[in-house]
Amino acid sequence: MIVTTKKLFEHAYGQYAIGAYNINNLEQTMGLFKGNVQSKAPFIVQLSKGARSYTHKKMLESMMKTADEIFPESVFAIHLDHGDEETCMDCINSGVYSSVMIDASHHPLEKNIEITKRVVDAAHAKGLVVEAELGLLKGIEEDVVAADHVYTKPEEAEYFVKQTGVDSLACAIGTSHGAFKFKGDQKLRFDILVEIQKRLPRFPLVMHGSSSVPKDEVARINAAGGNIKGASGVDADQFLGAAKLGVTKINIDTDGRLVWCRVHREFFRDHPEMFDLRDPGKVFIPEYAAFIAAKNVKLGSAGRLDAVRAACK
Ligand code: G3H
Ligand code: 13P
Ligand code: ZN
Repeated sequence: MIVTTKKLFEHAYGQYAIGAYNINNLEQTMGLFKGNVQSKAPFIVQLSKGARSYTHKKMLESMMKTADEIFPESVFAIHLDHGDEETCMDCINSGVYSSVMIDASHHPLEKNIEITKRVVDAAHAKGLVVEAELGLLKGIEEDVVAADHVYTKPEEAEYFVKQTGVDSLACAIGTSHGAFKFKGDQKLRFDILVEIQKRLPRFPLVMHGSSSVPKDEVARINAAGGNIKGASGVDADQFLGAAKLGVTKINIDTDGRLVWCRVHREFFRDHPEMFDLRDPGKVFIPEYAAFIAAKNVKLGSAGRLDAVRAACK
């Protein structure tokens, strides 16, 4: 069942977070749906601009509609990740997405508000919901590069939400995209979440850049011929603490890419005579499903499916 993130967030608020997983292809789609059904979790499929051009937007949209038929027990939102205005409008008009993210966070505040408001008006008119972003995550976010964190200011968050009517807000609290998030100890600014929650009670917040980049996964990749040095991520034991402070959506992409990389490197290292893409694919799909199911346990979304389905009807 395809739902809006609004429904999912209402159920999750203050208790647990919904996993928002980026996918690009068929094997990830199969693993994603299987993992969420196995762990009985509601979830969010995230399609980025990069994914929409790699696999073709129509192919991805068809796969999502078909996955809904193949896995009738699943409850999920189809969400555009880090959209610009043009891509948001395309997704709003597609009839497939239930949620879009407008990421105008690299613009000055008033310009961010102006762009976000246009997307909110268009989305709400068609029954979709909107995530926006305030603050900048260090590193690369789609086409934008930030040399350092620009943390979200709680007073601006309150003003921004009231001006735009947006449904959820991605906040910069020290996470970043990719596999190289922290040098030394991780420093997340949960104090910012506390302040935002005081100003915006029960308003859903989003944590981007939340992959954990497990050390053992990176070690296995490197042992199978990889060369990923100095990688580190977010401690997944912090997810429930973030959820209590209003984080209802936690974005994970990099960790899934690491699973893909490890499975394929190890497979071809151990089977140098093989070349059929389906052979590693048959290993990857259940491995990716197990990865999703384990992540859902950390997020607290595992086991919530029946209650969420009842609440969404
Ligand atoms: O935040 C970005 C996501 O990890 C998507 O990455 O733009 O390479 O598809 P991508
Ligand atoms: P990671 O790179 O930490 O997986 O973050 C993904 C993300 O925020 C997608 O929007
Ligand atoms: Zn992101």
